[in-house]
Amino acid sequence: MIIASNFKTNYTRAKTDDFVIAIQDFMRTTRSKQQVRIYAPATALDLFDEIPSLHVGAQNFYPTQNGSYTGEIGFEQLEEFAIDTVLIGHSERRHILKESQDLIAQKFNFAQAKNVEIIYCVGEPKEIRALGIDAVMAYIWEQFEGIDINYERLVIAYEPVWAIGTGLTASDDDIKEVLGRLDEKLSAPLLYGGSVKVDNIKEILSIDKCSGVLVGTASWSVEAFSSMIQAADNLEKQ
Ligand code: 13P
Repeated sequence: MIIASNFKTNYTRAKTDDFVIAIQDFMRTTRSKQQVRIYAPATALDLFDEIPSLHVGAQNFYPTQNGSYTGEIGFEQLEEFAIDTVLIGHSERRHILKESQDLIAQKFNFAQAKNVEIIYCVGEPKEIRALGIDAVMAYIWEQFEGIDINYERLVIAYEPVWAIGTGLTASDDDIKEVLGRLDEKLSAPLLYGGSVKVDNIKEILSIDKCSGVLVGTASWSVEAFSSMIQAADNLEKQ
């Protein structure tokens, strides 16, 4: 399974380094079988001495190799650190940073041409959820405009906006329904994100079609993130 941590705007370079070392030590000791991803802030990217099943990735980039885009980070800056996995379409970028679907698609195409793994995030806000599942799916399918759903290194993360950072997790039935409908049209692995915690991860990972999780707040401690990796390992042993 894919167990991913999104640091968002947290952690310094030094703290990220400590976190990565601690998680790798844990995975070596427990012989974890999980695919772990850590999306660190751009200032904390580095050439980490990574084990094959753990990768540090980028939360964002501008769709250019380099150039004159003051304040932005292009692929040349990611390639310096051998970044092989990126997040695209996260709801905080869509809603807070006002990224358009057009810019998101440009980022996607750029990352696809670079052949890096893409965790592509989709999800509906509260007012759409209130309209029912058909409205939710119509909203989500629009978020695939301009996106090549057949890209081999694509992973989809379903993250309902109302469940992110709120402590409100979508119900198992809601997650199952959305993942099931996505799976009818997509062959990419499907993750869930939105208030995943140590005490609900087992239940979430057990949902049909769920291949992993993308975790924010609850993943920011080594202890909690290790417990989540352990929970996935335990489930696979059952
Ligand atoms: P929380 O786990 O804090 O709800 O955040 C989820 C998320 O946005 C992961 O990308």
